[in-house]
Amino acid sequence: TPWRATVLTLFPEMFPGPLGISLAGRALASGLWSLEARDIRASATDKHRSVDDTPAGGGPGMVLRADVLAAAIDAVDAAAERPRLMMSPRGRPLTQARVAELAAGPGPLIVCGRFEGIDQRVIDGRQLEEVSIGDYVLSGGEIAAMTLIDACVRLLPGVMGKLESGSDESFSDGLLEYPQYTRPQVFEGRPIPDVLLSGDHAKVAAWRLAESEALTEKRRPDLWAARPKAPESGRKRKS
Ligand code: ADE
Repeated sequence: TPWRATVLTLFPEMFPGPLGISLAGRALASGLWSLEARDIRASATDKHRSVDDTPAGGGPGMVLRADVLAAAIDAVDAAAERPRLMMSPRGRPLTQARVAELAAGPGPLIVCGRFEGIDQRVIDGRQLEEVSIGDYVLSGGEIAAMTLIDACVRLLPGVMGKLESGSDESFSDGLLEYPQYTRPQVFEGRPIPDVLLSGDHAKVAAWRLAESEALTEKRRPDLWAARPKAPESGRKRKS
Protein backbone atom coordinates (compact mmCIF):
# COMPACT_ATOMS: atom_id res chain seq x y z
CA THR A 1 0.00 0.00 0.00
CA PRO A 2 1.33 3.45 -0.86
CA TRP A 3 2.40 6.00 1.73
CA ARG A 4 -0.60 7.72 3.26
CA ALA A 5 -1.02 10.91 5.28
CA THR A 6 -4.12 11.26 7.45
CA VAL A 7 -4.79 14.82 8.62
CA LEU A 8 -7.24 15.64 11.41
CA THR A 9 -8.38 19.24 11.06
CA LEU A 10 -11.31 21.58 11.58
CA PHE A 11 -10.69 22.86 8.04
CA PRO A 12 -10.51 19.80 5.76
CA GLU A 13 -11.33 22.03 2.77
CA MET A 14 -7.77 23.42 3.02
CA PHE A 15 -6.51 20.07 1.61
CA PRO A 16 -4.98 19.06 -0.72
CA GLY A 17 -4.38 22.76 -1.46
CA PRO A 18 -0.81 23.19 -2.69
CA LEU A 19 -0.18 19.45 -2.23
CA GLY A 20 -2.44 18.91 -5.26
CA ILE A 21 -0.03 20.85 -7.52
CA SER A 22 3.43 20.33 -9.00
CA LEU A 23 5.63 17.46 -7.77
CA ALA A 24 3.47 16.35 -4.84
CA GLY A 25 0.25 16.80 -6.85
CA ARG A 26 1.50 14.74 -9.79
CA ALA A 27 2.62 11.99 -7.40
CA LEU A 28 -0.77 12.13 -5.67
CA ALA A 29 -2.62 11.83 -9.00
CA SER A 30 -0.47 8.87 -10.04
CA GLY A 31 -1.11 7.00 -6.77
CA LEU A 32 2.40 7.19 -5.30
CA TRP A 33 0.87 8.48 -2.07
CA SER A 34 -2.59 9.30 -0.72
CA LEU A 35 -4.06 12.01 1.44
CA GLU A 36 -7.01 11.79 3.78
CA ALA A 37 -8.21 15.03 5.42
CA ARG A 38 -10.73 14.25 8.15
CA ASP A 39 -12.97 16.78 9.87
CA ILE A 40 -12.54 16.73 13.65
CA ARG A 41 -16.05 18.16 13.92
CA ALA A 42 -17.46 14.89 12.55
CA SER A 43 -16.55 13.38 15.94
CA ALA A 44 -18.50 15.94 17.98
CA THR A 45 -21.32 14.36 19.97
CA ASP A 46 -23.59 17.15 21.23
CA LYS A 47 -26.38 18.70 19.20
CA HIS A 48 -24.36 21.85 18.51
CA ARG A 49 -21.40 19.77 17.24
CA SER A 50 -19.13 21.74 19.54
CA VAL A 51 -15.42 20.91 19.44
CA ASP A 52 -14.01 23.45 21.89
CA ASP A 53 -14.68 24.96 25.30
CA THR A 54 -13.27 27.61 27.64
CA PRO A 55 -9.92 26.89 29.32
CA ALA A 56 -9.97 25.38 32.80
CA GLY A 57 -8.53 27.95 35.20
CA GLY A 58 -9.72 30.82 33.05
CA GLY A 59 -8.02 32.92 30.43
CA PRO A 60 -8.65 33.93 26.84
CA GLY A 61 -9.61 31.77 23.89
CA MET A 62 -10.89 28.25 23.55
CA VAL A 63 -9.40 24.78 23.97
CA LEU A 64 -10.05 21.79 21.71
CA ARG A 65 -11.88 19.14 23.71
CA ALA A 66 -10.01 15.93 24.59
CA ASP A 67 -13.03 13.67 24.11
CA VAL A 68 -13.82 14.97 20.62
CA LEU A 69 -10.23 14.78 19.38
CA ALA A 70 -9.68 11.34 20.96
CA ALA A 71 -12.77 10.03 19.15
CA ALA A 72 -11.46 11.49 15.87
CA ILE A 73 -8.06 9.81 16.39
CA ASP A 74 -9.61 6.47 17.36
CA ALA A 75 -11.74 6.50 14.18
CA VAL A 76 -8.58 6.54 12.00
CA ASP A 77 -7.59 3.18 10.66
CA ALA A 78 -4.37 1.69 12.11
CA ALA A 79 -3.95 4.84 14.23
CA ALA A 80 -2.11 2.88 16.92
CA GLU A 81 0.47 1.51 14.44
CA ARG A 82 1.31 4.81 12.75
CA PRO A 83 3.30 7.85 13.88
CA ARG A 84 0.83 10.17 15.58
CA LEU A 85 1.99 13.75 15.16
CA MET A 86 0.59 17.05 16.31
CA MET A 87 1.73 20.25 14.65
CA SER A 88 2.58 22.82 17.33
CA PRO A 89 5.08 25.64 17.80
CA ARG A 90 6.08 24.05 21.09
CA GLY A 91 7.02 20.76 19.42
CA ARG A 92 10.47 19.41 18.65
CA PRO A 93 11.82 21.19 15.55
CA LEU A 94 11.33 19.18 12.35
CA THR A 95 14.55 17.97 10.73
CA GLN A 96 15.41 16.31 7.42
CA ALA A 97 16.36 13.20 9.44
CA ARG A 98 12.85 12.95 10.97
CA VAL A 99 11.32 13.65 7.55
CA ALA A 100 13.32 10.74 6.07
CA GLU A 101 12.13 8.40 8.87
CA LEU A 102 8.50 9.42 8.32
CA ALA A 103 8.82 8.96 4.55
CA ALA A 104 10.21 5.44 5.11
CA GLY A 105 7.31 4.37 7.35
CA PRO A 106 3.58 3.74 6.88
CA GLY A 107 2.66 7.44 6.78
CA PRO A 108 1.60 9.53 9.78
CA LEU A 109 -1.62 10.68 11.31
CA ILE A 110 -1.29 14.44 11.83
CA VAL A 111 -3.39 16.51 14.23
CA CYS A 112 -3.66 20.19 13.33
CA GLY A 113 -3.95 22.50 16.31
CA ARG A 114 -6.21 25.55 16.35
CA PHE A 115 -7.55 27.87 19.02
CA GLU A 116 -5.41 28.55 22.07
CA GLY A 117 -4.57 24.91 22.37
CA ILE A 118 -5.58 21.30 22.75
CA ASP A 119 -6.51 19.57 25.99
CA GLN A 120 -3.24 18.12 27.33
CA ARG A 121 -4.91 14.82 28.27
CA VAL A 122 -5.42 13.77 24.65
CA ILE A 123 -1.80 14.68 23.83
CA ASP A 124 -0.66 12.47 26.72
CA GLY A 125 -3.27 9.73 26.37
CA ARG A 126 -2.81 9.22 22.62
CA GLN A 127 0.96 9.84 22.85
CA LEU A 128 0.98 12.59 20.25
CA GLU A 129 4.46 13.65 19.10
CA GLU A 130 4.46 17.44 18.91
CA VAL A 131 6.33 18.79 15.88
CA SER A 132 7.26 22.40 15.09
CA ILE A 133 8.28 23.69 11.67
CA GLY A 134 10.08 26.72 13.12
CA ASP A 135 10.17 29.38 15.78
CA TYR A 136 7.23 31.48 14.64
CA VAL A 137 3.49 31.10 15.15
CA LEU A 138 1.04 30.15 12.41
CA SER A 139 -2.71 30.57 12.83
CA GLY A 140 -3.17 26.83 12.77
CA GLY A 141 -1.37 23.56 12.15
CA GLU A 142 -2.68 22.98 8.62
CA ILE A 143 0.06 24.84 6.73
CA ALA A 144 2.64 23.23 9.02
CA ALA A 145 1.16 19.79 8.23
CA MET A 146 1.33 20.54 4.50
CA THR A 147 4.98 21.51 4.92
CA LEU A 148 5.79 18.23 6.67
CA ILE A 149 3.86 16.16 4.11
CA ASP A 150 5.54 17.91 1.17
CA ALA A 151 8.99 17.25 2.64
CA CYS A 152 8.12 13.53 3.03
CA VAL A 153 6.43 13.06 -0.34
CA ARG A 154 9.42 14.26 -2.37
CA LEU A 155 11.48 11.45 -0.78
CA LEU A 156 9.04 8.67 -1.72
CA PRO A 157 10.25 6.17 -4.33
CA GLY A 158 9.33 7.31 -7.84
CA VAL A 159 8.41 10.87 -6.91
CA MET A 160 11.66 12.53 -7.94
CA GLY A 161 13.84 11.61 -10.86
CA LYS A 162 17.10 9.76 -10.24
CA LEU A 163 19.19 12.84 -11.05
CA GLU A 164 17.82 14.92 -8.18
CA SER A 165 17.48 12.00 -5.81
CA GLY A 166 18.37 14.05 -2.75
CA SER A 167 21.97 12.93 -2.30
CA ASP A 168 23.43 16.25 -3.50
CA GLU A 169 21.26 18.68 -1.61
CA SER A 170 21.27 20.76 1.55
CA PHE A 171 21.21 18.81 4.82
CA SER A 172 22.00 15.45 3.27
CA ASP A 173 25.64 16.41 3.88
CA GLY A 174 24.94 19.00 6.57
CA LEU A 175 25.85 21.89 4.27
CA LEU A 176 23.82 24.57 2.51
CA GLU A 177 23.62 24.38 -1.26
CA TYR A 178 26.18 26.03 -3.50
CA PRO A 179 25.08 28.80 -5.91
CA GLN A 180 23.68 27.86 -9.33
CA TYR A 181 23.86 29.74 -12.63
CA THR A 182 22.46 29.39 -16.13
CA ARG A 183 22.37 31.48 -19.29
CA PRO A 184 22.84 34.27 -20.14
CA GLN A 185 26.59 34.17 -19.57
CA VAL A 186 26.51 37.78 -18.35
CA PHE A 187 23.47 39.17 -16.50
CA GLU A 188 23.41 42.90 -15.65
CA GLY A 189 27.19 42.93 -15.73
CA ARG A 190 27.56 39.80 -13.56
CA PRO A 191 29.34 36.91 -15.29
CA ILE A 192 28.99 33.23 -14.46
CA PRO A 193 32.10 32.21 -12.46
CA ASP A 194 34.81 31.06 -14.92
CA VAL A 195 35.36 27.70 -13.22
CA LEU A 196 31.81 26.60 -14.09
CA LEU A 197 32.53 27.10 -17.80
CA SER A 198 35.95 25.38 -17.66
CA GLY A 199 34.68 21.86 -18.27
CA ASP A 200 36.95 20.61 -15.46
CA HIS A 201 34.55 18.51 -13.39
CA ALA A 202 36.94 18.03 -10.47
CA LYS A 203 37.56 21.77 -10.26
CA VAL A 204 33.83 22.47 -10.45
CA ALA A 205 33.16 19.98 -7.62
CA ALA A 206 35.89 21.51 -5.46
CA TRP A 207 34.58 25.03 -6.10
CA ARG A 208 31.03 24.00 -5.18
CA LEU A 209 32.14 22.32 -1.95
CA ALA A 210 34.16 25.41 -0.99
CA GLU A 211 31.15 27.67 -1.69
CA SER A 212 28.85 25.38 0.34
CA GLU A 213 31.26 25.38 3.25
CA ALA A 214 31.79 29.15 3.22
CA LEU A 215 28.04 29.82 3.03
CA THR A 216 27.24 27.36 5.82
CA GLU A 217 29.92 28.76 8.15
CA LYS A 218 28.73 32.33 7.58
CA ARG A 219 24.97 31.84 7.56
CA ARG A 220 24.40 28.77 9.75
CA PRO A 221 27.06 28.50 12.43
CA ASP A 222 24.82 25.89 14.13
CA LEU A 223 24.96 23.56 11.11
CA TRP A 224 28.66 24.32 10.61
CA ALA A 225 29.55 23.28 14.15
CA ALA A 226 27.55 20.04 13.85
CA ARG A 227 28.58 19.08 10.31
CA PRO A 228 29.85 15.57 9.64
CA LYS A 229 33.58 16.02 9.16
CA ALA A 230 34.76 14.84 5.74
CA PRO A 231 38.42 13.88 5.33
CA GLU A 232 38.89 16.46 2.56
CA SER A 233 37.63 20.05 2.78
CA GLY A 234 36.86 22.03 -0.36
CA ARG A 235 38.78 25.01 0.95
CA LYS A 236 42.48 25.61 0.98
CA ARG A 237 43.96 25.68 4.47
CA LYS A 238 45.03 28.99 5.88
CA SER A 239 48.85 29.00 6.10
N1 ADE B 1 1.10 25.71 14.50
C1 ADE B 1 1.25 27.04 14.67
N2 ADE B 1 2.52 27.41 14.53
C2 ADE B 1 3.23 26.29 14.24
C3 ADE B 1 4.59 26.00 13.99
N3 ADE B 1 5.52 26.97 14.00
N4 ADE B 1 4.96 24.73 13.75
C4 ADE B 1 4.03 23.75 13.77
N5 ADE B 1 2.74 23.94 14.00
C5 ADE B 1 2.33 25.20 14.23
